[in-house]
Amino acid sequence: MRPDRMLLTLARRVPTLLALPVLAALGAAAPPTDAGRFAADGRFLPPADYREWVFLSSGLDMAYTDNPAATGHAVFDNVFVDPASWAAFKASGHWPDGTVFILENRLGASQGSINRQGHFQSGEVLGLEAHVRDTARFKGGWGFYALHGDQPAEVIPRTATCYACHEAHGAVDTTFTQFYPVARAVAARAGTLLDR
Ligand code: HEC
Repeated sequence: MRPDRMLLTLARRVPTLLALPVLAALGAAAPPTDAGRFAADGRFLPPADYREWVFLSSGLDMAYTDNPAATGHAVFDNVFVDPASWAAFKASGHWPDGTVFILENRLGASQGSINRQGHFQSGEVLGLEAHVRDTARFKGGWGFYALHGDQPAEVIPRTATCYACHEAHGAVDTTFTQFYPVARAVAARAGTLLDR
């Protein structure tokens, strides 16, 4: 990290550090970070705090065919996983029951502020999807969801291509851990990374 960046980061953290003892003194509960939330009717409740979760990686304009349709704009996908499952994954190299992944698509921009080349992420969220491990609930152990704001979501049916592609090509427990560099290294060490 460049020294000027480090100062900025520190400057941002100081108010949080100062606030912590105050919160503790007030007995404030820690922000909710547990995953695997379902409504009584079985629908999935989108996690409001996924931006506080563990960031695994960003893909930029990833496509799974040789000649993908040109979209005329760049799209990033940001992948997050809930912290409790990340801790379990680091110990075992497997994603445990209760794991929730969130994939967030954001539009890329290239002209803005001082930037003239390359892409940065613009503010807009284009799409939000979840991949949830719950072996009691789902045949195959995992369910996929398309999320719309804080609306409870119905699971995507097993016949959707999500399941086929993830089961055939995901390197760890039907997830694309091969594209998440730090997680990939954990799985490689644990011997759970398939060669895909
Ligand atoms: C043709 C293959 C393919 C299909 C079909 C597909 N995905 Fe994925 N998915 C990927 C790849 C590759 C990644 C890794 C993205 C990255 O590296 O940023 C991924 C990552 C994800 C993640 C992040 C967690 C994980 O499992 O690695 C979610 C959530 C996700 N996809 C949801 C979906 C949903 C919902 C559908 C169906 C509507 C779907 N995917 C269909 C290939 C696919």
